[in-house]
Amino acid sequence: MIKLHSGNVLPFARQSELDQMRPQLEAAHDLLHKGAGPGCEYLGWLDWPSDFDRAELARIRKAAAQIRRDSDVLVVIGIGGSYLGARAAIEMLGPGFPQLLSKRQRKAPLVLFAGNNLSPDYLAELLDVLADKKVSVNVISKSGTTTEPALAFRVFKRWMEDRYGKDGAKTRIYATTDRSRGVLRQLADTEGYETFVVPDDIGGRFSVLTAVGLLPIAVAGIDVRDMLRGARDGAKTWQKPDPDVNDCYAYAAWRNILLRKGYGVEIMVNYEPKLHMFTEWWKQLYGESEGKDGRGIFPAGVDNTTDLHSMGQYVQDGRRMLFETVLLSEQAGRAFEVPLDPENRDGLNFLAGQDFAQVNRQAAQGTVLAHVDGGVPNLQLSFPERSAYWFGQLVYFFELACAISGYLLAVNPFDQPGVENYKQNMYALLGKPGFEQRRAELEARLNGSERA
Ligand code: PA5
Repeated sequence: MIKLHSGNVLPFARQSELDQMRPQLEAAHDLLHKGAGPGCEYLGWLDWPSDFDRAELARIRKAAAQIRRDSDVLVVIGIGGSYLGARAAIEMLGPGFPQLLSKRQRKAPLVLFAGNNLSPDYLAELLDVLADKKVSVNVISKSGTTTEPALAFRVFKRWMEDRYGKDGAKTRIYATTDRSRGVLRQLADTEGYETFVVPDDIGGRFSVLTAVGLLPIAVAGIDVRDMLRGARDGAKTWQKPDPDVNDCYAYAAWRNILLRKGYGVEIMVNYEPKLHMFTEWWKQLYGESEGKDGRGIFPAGVDNTTDLHSMGQYVQDGRRMLFETVLLSEQAGRAFEVPLDPENRDGLNFLAGQDFAQVNRQAAQGTVLAHVDGGVPNLQLSFPERSAYWFGQLVYFFELACAISGYLLAVNPFDQPGVENYKQNMYALLGKPGFEQRRAELEARLNGSERA
């Protein structure tokens, strides 16, 4: 089970405050389940773990099997919700150093990502290392118009066609996009790529359990049916809007209670490097869903114990506006004991024979108590182990909590109007036709700030 431990919030907030949230939780629950809240056209993810398209899943698994057979590398081109979930799953559940393993050792192609930045070095260096590899490409964009993946795909389309010929390339390029709209849909249909659908009623950051995440995750050899099963069981678990029995809603409620008390930054904390990208996925989910209309909790992340030696000082002792949510797996993947050193020069023989997991756990518990003493409210979320099943359940937990939390905040958790602003400026500065006026205004501002 995913369990919420809220005892270390109580020095900062009263249990009765959670009780007082009940009517608001019920209202948020009704808005969500009756489809009456803002953004209700994007609720497809809610029943998706039971209602997903079985035929599409069969096609995804077949395509994944084909890529596993004929490719050393799958390049996934996408940004935001079109890549973070897949990367989170593959890094949480796959081997720690996949690039140093052969395909046989990995038992899967290497999954690499592109189109999530505009760095020329990144693209050039990626193409360099692909020179002697058998490659497939999965281009993912719901809108089909996002600049970063569109530009990367422009490069990869030509590269694949030069490499495999037009006919060969089209058997190795898979497009995941809207059912009928958008430039990528048109391009894929014209070129004859195999395509997968991002459902109309599921937004990017809620889409990891659709083809968006499932194809790359299946290529990495992870059981996507287990993942959907985990999410399905989660949906059954968190049905009642009662925070005493529903940890998902209790999480949504506590974070809002803390926000109202001035704790405007939530740090997601892990003690396992394989959870780094999961935190990145979570940051996007909460940041894009809640940060609007001048509201929202700022989602941050730290990887401990690494970041105890960089961010730890601030968390312990800096401005008091932070609360932490520690995400802990009850089981580590592997046992690894601290060896006995007969010379004991480092004085650490008192740890000899203990498993690193135990040392890590005590580091986590000691840190939690220190941070609570330093004025940082603490929530802990534990889950049994890193597996496809629990990944699916965690995804559903955070998606559902995000929707409820968004409604508690009175924002539309399913849109992202603010993302457009940088795009408009970028288009204008790059000289896109139709943006001349904006370009002139921006250039005047940029020249002014250079002079000042
Ligand atoms: O959650 C979202 O909707 C966004 O983060 C999108 O996933 C991101 O902007 C990429 O969009 P698209 O898939 O249309 O290229």
